[in-house]
Amino acid sequence: MRTIHSIAELRAALAGQARTAFVPTMGNLHEGHLSLVRQARALGGPVVASVFVNRLQFAPHEDFDTYPRTLERDAELLQGAGCDILFAPSERELYPQPQGYKVHPPAALADILEGHFRPGFFIGVCTVVLKLFQCVQPAIAVFGKKDYQQLMVIRNMVQQLAMPIEIVGGETCRAGDGLALSSRNGYLSAAERAQAVALSGQLRALVQAVQAGGRDFAALEAAAVQALQARGWAEDYVAIRRRADLLAPQPADGPGALVVLAAARLGTTRLIDNLEI
Ligand code: PAF
Repeated sequence: MRTIHSIAELRAALAGQARTAFVPTMGNLHEGHLSLVRQARALGGPVVASVFVNRLQFAPHEDFDTYPRTLERDAELLQGAGCDILFAPSERELYPQPQGYKVHPPAALADILEGHFRPGFFIGVCTVVLKLFQCVQPAIAVFGKKDYQQLMVIRNMVQQLAMPIEIVGGETCRAGDGLALSSRNGYLSAAERAQAVALSGQLRALVQAVQAGGRDFAALEAAAVQALQARGWAEDYVAIRRRADLLAPQPADGPGALVVLAAARLGTTRLIDNLEI
């Protein structure tokens, strides 16, 4: 595997490659990222993964400065997973000037849920992803379903901007107790880690309730929030939405058409998770 820091060198290395598969990341990699790389590997073309902690998608009070930078370890893990090129640009390389041109995704999709609680987050994500796509020019890009809304926003961007890139979703990897793997799990204290299982537990309970015929979605969401609060969580949202557009479901919507998404804080750590219903 080659590690490349400059856009010019990356373009030279990929010249003439038709089926490049791309996995963008912010590093501090775990099995969830590596499963996306293996999924990309199985597609047959060269695999590029990027590691870039994107300042544009962090609000001033968020963890940009403390976000773990573990490039050496990330490179070893990527090599083991079959990655061909690690693209790890510096901020100066990717943002040589303050980024004045930005991608503003439609509010109906991007200003709800994560976008409501993290204003500007999807502008930062779309802008860096578009720029990384320009650098890598992949045929396929793989994003984890763990960031469900992000996957939908990127799919929508690629479709509306007629970018010739297939967007593939990778399943969420979970620890033995059900906690979705996340780079931010490392922020949890031992006591918080023990409580963290409650988030996926509540999502599973909601899935079962809807599958059993429950259609009072607001009551189901409220019960999950109450159960999380009782275990020390502070919720941003627990929301049952339609998979197609992330809007609130109608009573007639049922299993196969829905997803439940949640974001909540344990202490200072904010975790997100979702399950399709
Ligand atoms: O999901 C992430 O890690 C980031 O949002 C991404 C897609 C790499 C853009 O910075």
